[in-house]
Amino acid sequence: MEITVNGAVRIVDAEPDTPLLWVLRDNLGLTGTKYGCGLAQCGACTVLVQGLPVRSCVTPVESVAGLPVTTIETVEQDDVGRRIVEAWVAHQVPQCGYCQSGQVMAATALLKQVAAPSDSDIAAAMTNLCRCGTYNAIAAAIRNVAQG
Ligand code: FES
Ligand code: FES
Repeated sequence: MEITVNGAVRIVDAEPDTPLLWVLRDNLGLTGTKYGCGLAQCGACTVLVQGLPVRSCVTPVESVAGLPVTTIETVEQDDVGRRIVEAWVAHQVPQCGYCQSGQVMAATALLKQVAAPSDSDIAAAMTNLCRCGTYNAIAAAIRNVAQG
């Protein structure tokens, strides 16, 4: 089937119900998107579909046919995504780093929808888990981008 990933149409040999996560990682070699729980709980696998955050571990690849998928590999081509990554670096957000590509994608989606999110907006949108406890740094980085 054909899917559009990071601005390019890609032809992938996969069953229609294969989770998008595995198509990205195994078929397309985009290993920046991580596997955590496989149960839509942790958010490590977050990518954007039409600009909205999606947990790719439970998203059948057939459901994104014809829709633009964005992964961490090209998020910095977007102005908001670039500013998020810069803020992540400035605030030294990552610890082990495993959850961080999903966190960056979720934060990018939030700031593209709400340019100046309140603390409750941030808490509501940033539901990805982090075993290293980087939540305060994540919120600070998001506030930093929102404040320009
Ligand atoms: S791996 Fe998808 S939500 Fe945890
Ligand atoms: S930085 Fe280690 S799990 Fe989030």
